[in-house]
Amino acid sequence: MTSYFDLKDFLLDQKYHLYIAADAQPFLNKRVKGTMTTQVAAGGVSVALEPVARAGNAVFISRGKTIEDKEILDKNGIITVNHKDPYTLRRIFLPQEDLDGYYNGFSNQTLWPLCHVAFETPIFSNIWYEKYKKVNSEFAHALETTPYNGAEKAAKVYFINDYQLSLVPSFLKKTPETIISLFWHIPWPTWEVFRILPQKKEILQSLLQCDFLAFHRDYHVRNFFSTLRRELAVRIDEEKKTVHFGNHATVVKSLPMGIDTDVIKSLSTPEDSGLLTHFIKSIFRVEKEKIPHEDFFNNTKVILGVDRLDYTKGLTMRLTALERFLEKYPRFLGNVSYVGFLALSRENIPSYQMLKKTVREKAREINKRFGTKQWKPVHLLPGVFSRQELISLYTHAAVCLVTPLDDGMNLVSKEFVIASSTTTNPGALVLSQFAGSATDLTSALIVNAYDTEETADAIAQGLSMDQNERKERIMRMAATLEEQSVYAWSKEFLRQALAAAKENRGVNV
Ligand code: F6P
Repeated sequence: MTSYFDLKDFLLDQKYHLYIAADAQPFLNKRVKGTMTTQVAAGGVSVALEPVARAGNAVFISRGKTIEDKEILDKNGIITVNHKDPYTLRRIFLPQEDLDGYYNGFSNQTLWPLCHVAFETPIFSNIWYEKYKKVNSEFAHALETTPYNGAEKAAKVYFINDYQLSLVPSFLKKTPETIISLFWHIPWPTWEVFRILPQKKEILQSLLQCDFLAFHRDYHVRNFFSTLRRELAVRIDEEKKTVHFGNHATVVKSLPMGIDTDVIKSLSTPEDSGLLTHFIKSIFRVEKEKIPHEDFFNNTKVILGVDRLDYTKGLTMRLTALERFLEKYPRFLGNVSYVGFLALSRENIPSYQMLKKTVREKAREINKRFGTKQWKPVHLLPGVFSRQELISLYTHAAVCLVTPLDDGMNLVSKEFVIASSTTTNPGALVLSQFAGSATDLTSALIVNAYDTEETADAIAQGLSMDQNERKERIMRMAATLEEQSVYAWSKEFLRQALAAAKENRGVNV
């Protein structure tokens, strides 16, 4: 297994500076009661990339959000993150107009619905696209101009992340000392879908300026190749996974992202962490003194959901499946509750506002239909949660429901498996076949997230499964995940990026 320290040793030996770019930042700054605090989201691409930045003493370019995010930067707009292993964070700040076009518009109302099969119609606007272009050029400029804090090295590797930054490669100067790579974290759709995008050629051409491009799964690579064949005059060497376009070559591979299993394990404290007390008290209104935790979770089985409030996560469908489960399996009435953590995101976008309403209404409907004075079947918790809070619940949930309609990878399902592997009485994972992680987590109860009958049955199966079988399934999946840590993933990504640049351009670092 590759650890943080293996990655650090590997990066120390390299003759290049590592530059990471991602829209979301690894943490945000906020003043709480007069004191400056650092807040880390419960998950997401940038949180996963943060230890990679530390291991590589990297420069990390991302979008700042709060006034305090700006306040703590020096006059060059950067801050050295003062960890034992420091890295340089540069934040880009956008005026509202640019944010609307780049983030709320083209990224999340055009590309996001276009790339996920969730039947949300993408919206096309040239004004949004122009802002998207502008902001992408700003990210490229920041990559090229942010000074590196450390001994001079011969070359630079740009590690660009996700669909928000697809045009960044086209704005970067191409020199023998720069290696351009991009990881596309969301699905790549079939050509029949991608072809409707008016700006498709510019995006494809930009991606083909990378030396190395990667997706989570093989079918994303296959879809990407078929899109290229239909849209551009490319030659694809299937064996070497190399696309030749003009006089440039790009290696394109699948590289499923993993998680930091050590951190998850260290946060999985089955004993009273205070958080569980708070959880039981605030959600179930039970005084902790009256009932020990283990007894509480034996009497009340928790079905857990942890999601960003997003239509791709299949939340309405999931609640319909829960309703069917309660209807079909009345023996569980009164002793099982669904607890859905909902991280709010993209709140200015109308489809996300609508979804919030729909999900709330559906939960209310179920509670009205099945709930009693003493028991509420559905608890929805919108807000911001710490990793520690979520992980302490992973270890106590009877079932974890991860049922996206389409998802590039889904790290929640992986974190649940690792956290559960630390307990003697783990829960069961019900996982959508449309999550990228379903290819790795084959011992989960795999369902078609659109098939609410099948999902309802899987919930019942998970709740009825004996402890040995739950443990065996979790341990099998945990063993797979131990091999695919986020460190192994990033090391392999950077190794492949360098190999591609050496092979195709003779870059010699
Ligand atoms: O994986 C998709 C993604 O958009 C990431 O790029 C991002 O970290 C995460 O989802 C959260 O999205 P947002 O920052 O738009 O809430």
